[in-house]
Amino acid sequence: MPLTRKAYRAAILHSIADPAEVGIEASYEYFEDGLLVVDNGQISALGHASELLASLPADIEITHYQDALITPGFIDTHIHLPQTGMVGAYGEQLLDWLNTYTFPCESQFADQAHAEEVAEIFIKELLRNGTTTALVFGSVHPQSVNAFFEAAEKLDLRMIAGKVMMDRNAPDYLTDTAESSYLESKALIERWHGKGRLHYAVTPRFAPTSTPEQLTLAGQLLGEYPDLYMQTHISENLQEVEWVKELFPERKGYLDVYDHYQLLGERSVFAHGVHLCDDECARLAQTGSAVAFCPTSNLFLGSGLFNLPMAEKHKLNVGLGTDVGGGTSFSLLQTLNEAYKVMQLLGARLSPFKSLYLATLGGARALRLEERIGTLQPGTDADFLVLDYNATPLLSYRLKQSKSIAETLFVLMTLGDDRTVAQTYAAGNLVHQR
Ligand code: GUN
Ligand code: ZN
Repeated sequence: MPLTRKAYRAAILHSIADPAEVGIEASYEYFEDGLLVVDNGQISALGHASELLASLPADIEITHYQDALITPGFIDTHIHLPQTGMVGAYGEQLLDWLNTYTFPCESQFADQAHAEEVAEIFIKELLRNGTTTALVFGSVHPQSVNAFFEAAEKLDLRMIAGKVMMDRNAPDYLTDTAESSYLESKALIERWHGKGRLHYAVTPRFAPTSTPEQLTLAGQLLGEYPDLYMQTHISENLQEVEWVKELFPERKGYLDVYDHYQLLGERSVFAHGVHLCDDECARLAQTGSAVAFCPTSNLFLGSGLFNLPMAEKHKLNVGLGTDVGGGTSFSLLQTLNEAYKVMQLLGARLSPFKSLYLATLGGARALRLEERIGTLQPGTDADFLVLDYNATPLLSYRLKQSKSIAETLFVLMTLGDDRTVAQTYAAGNLVHQR
């Protein structure tokens, strides 16, 4: 194959470390007039345009973006594909919301054609919002995951997904059995895990909807294949936490249920964790597990405020999740807008550079993919965004007042949304243009 080499010139910003560990100034690199060079889908150079241009052949194709910021693609560590059609469902908190809205909506994915239609809409929406990697819940139906991976594969996206396992406390039309969930997950793993840039996640919905037998088999699957992911929900809502205590009285608490069935580990991502206690955070960190912070969902469903400072104290890996359809936006910029407000209500701060970290490198670390995505380091996948400073009249006017990249970044995260994402590139290919 001939070498395809392209270069992109603009202001360029990426996270290189967690501000909680190295301080804000050492956590990022910013090139006011930067150049990003891409060879065959991977980043081959990053630096100041003035320094890099001299080293490049005179005939290289350079795309120059004015009034724009190049960043790594965003990483959504928690989202539900089959809830695309029910974002913004009125009036309930978690358990009633699941029964009233979620389960009926997910039941439609028994139909292959419906699964394919929504998979296309869902992936377009991710890319329109600048999300280049997501950890995705399918429905209980394997066809929801097949449809998703087929659509992702066509665009050579780095994506992770799994079929929901749920064999109790849900309507009959939406449950599997311990055995069928094991066999169906296994078939999906054989077909998709490690194919191109796709990965599989074993996906027990949450402790209340799985029998001990199903959780046992989920743990068994994780032991059978290397580098599988595990995704589930934990401690999102106080009623849910009480219910888990009733269902598993022999366990110390909610996390201990998952721990008992060997579901913790370096590729395990637990959504929400709003009501985790100190000991549970410590255990999650000790096992290398990660938590997905989902502020738009936690506010929308009235679940509570995720304690990011407590997670930081334990050096727990945290990524951001939109949690659509409990969450109200596909945009990680809007998710950061709400994350900032959650921190304000806790009397804490969320700096724009910590926010950038959470949406990019922090998410990549939560998924153990920091060697491939989350930064613009040479050698990594060319998954990146062009954010438009003139996306809306207000953003344009507001950014003209900005005195620093910190201020610009914060305003992008406060006023920005899908309109801000002018271009999305994945593996060096333009996969969305506004
Ligand atoms: N807990 C169990 N299932 C779900 C779900 O679909 N969404 C959210 N937000 N929490 C859950
Ligand atoms: Zn969820």
